[in-house]
Amino acid sequence: MTATATAMAGEVARRRTFAIISHPDAGKTTLTEKLLLVGGAIHAAGEVRARGQNRRARSDWMKIEQARGISVTSSVMTFEKEGTVFNLLDTPGHEDFSEDTYRTLTAVDSAVMVIDAAKGIEAQTRKLFEVCRLRDVPIITFINKVDREGKDPFELLDEIADTLALDVAPLNWPAGMGGEFRGLYDLKQRRFHSPDGSDSRLAGPVEQVSGLDDPRIDVLAGPMAGRLREQAELAEGGYAALDIDQYRAGALTPVIFGSALKDFGVADLIAALAALAPSPRPQPAVPAAVDPAGAQVTGFVFKVQANMNPQHRDRIAFLRLASGRFRRGMKLRQMATGKQIAINSPIFFFAQDREIAEEAFAGDIIGIPNHGVLRVGDSLVEKDDASFTGIPNFAPEILRRVKLDDPTKSKQLKTALTDMAEEGVTQLFKPAIGSQWIVGVVGQLQLEVLISRLEAEYRVAASFEPSPFETARWLIGTPADLKAFADEHRGAMAEDRDGAPVFMARDSWELNFVTGRFPAIRFSATRERA
Ligand code: G4P
Repeated sequence: MTATATAMAGEVARRRTFAIISHPDAGKTTLTEKLLLVGGAIHAAGEVRARGQNRRARSDWMKIEQARGISVTSSVMTFEKEGTVFNLLDTPGHEDFSEDTYRTLTAVDSAVMVIDAAKGIEAQTRKLFEVCRLRDVPIITFINKVDREGKDPFELLDEIADTLALDVAPLNWPAGMGGEFRGLYDLKQRRFHSPDGSDSRLAGPVEQVSGLDDPRIDVLAGPMAGRLREQAELAEGGYAALDIDQYRAGALTPVIFGSALKDFGVADLIAALAALAPSPRPQPAVPAAVDPAGAQVTGFVFKVQANMNPQHRDRIAFLRLASGRFRRGMKLRQMATGKQIAINSPIFFFAQDREIAEEAFAGDIIGIPNHGVLRVGDSLVEKDDASFTGIPNFAPEILRRVKLDDPTKSKQLKTALTDMAEEGVTQLFKPAIGSQWIVGVVGQLQLEVLISRLEAEYRVAASFEPSPFETARWLIGTPADLKAFADEHRGAMAEDRDGAPVFMARDSWELNFVTGRFPAIRFSATRERA
């Protein structure tokens, strides 16, 4: 290996790009804040939330976000600890946003699953977990809120193992929970982490012991010492040993008990991410998978966010770098169009005060301000072709006609709908017959967001009317087959915003019927960009 290649491999090896998945209220925000605090990225607790609130106050549509207690916007936070660079990608928490969330999870190499100790596995956790499993994303589990009364630790571990069909490997064990909580015992390092004795938010000292038999345990765990010894021994014998290959294959989850609020287990989680979580992996692409330590810069856009600043019609494309050493001012080629794009003002997402970074490597995320050129699913390359796969658009489950209250605003409406479609949150179809746009979404909440944003950001009053269609499929086939099909189904044909042919079906029965009649055509529920 050349010196440059070795340096590049070193940069890749020290990166961890991950997301936190959880059910609302399990403690994702609190844990994020503590990770940044322990990671030295912020200096006072509360900053993540405060920043979130400022952001929320900025635009009206985000009222929905507040009203529903969900996070629609997503962001990236980077921090560095003891030589490891952590890129934390925020996943939107609501089930309606599964499409957006899915794509965010395409950009991470591992995930942290936060579970509320009193509630166990909840619906949304499970759904997000399934997405991770689909993509073989390895998971570290953080069982949060041990400072509160919760389920029995064994019951929690068995619930994870049974409902998710995963082996569990506890890394630490709580000495009591809730009112009885006396601290955490690290099963591997044989260390005991005590509360600091007051009601302070920060945990107390960590003490090395020789093992569970150490008499210090009686002092440290107090009345919980007996139970801790008994349970920890049972746990060590009864659960899988930590096997890093099994974890990385997605068959086993290391489990950390802790309290994000009281700062228990957070440093352990960072240490586990550094020691166990995979560094950036090769990314699937055509013509060949891309090696993260490869020399040329490549990456893919997994998210676009419009109007982060409502004063400007700008948007930010979030590019996950897949290989190479990115430098500010570089030119990258957009695979879908062949266009060269100069990246002169990339945004690096360091949550701390530091000089703006000039370079980035595989696993890093950069924000690229642009005026709508970059789309979700775009592949960008320095030189040789590479089209990343697996970042699809999903067939919408709800289709609506858009009705404009003031017909003179049709131009603004089109701009607005195109903008939203570019974010990849909604889809836009132009029917072959008629002039009314049809908007497709995966979930109902997206429609509400769309209407609010049309008003707040584009001053366009519009509403939705039912459309006769329920779902849509992209059509793939020879030009002759497609023409024959289109001639017969003119009233149900549309184009997506790239001009790709789409069939809109009234219901699943019709879809099945038509699919059966035209076996030469593929009716695709997803579409990927070149
Ligand atoms: P989310 O992002 O997953 O939705 O959860 P968030 O961090 O907002 O936490 C949800 C609630 O749980 C918050 O309480 C938070 O303080 C609490 N919480 C988080 N981690 C812990 C923990 O380790 N122990 C305990 N006891 N509570 C925890 P809240 O009352 O809804 O909000 P707030 O008034 O505290 O801001």
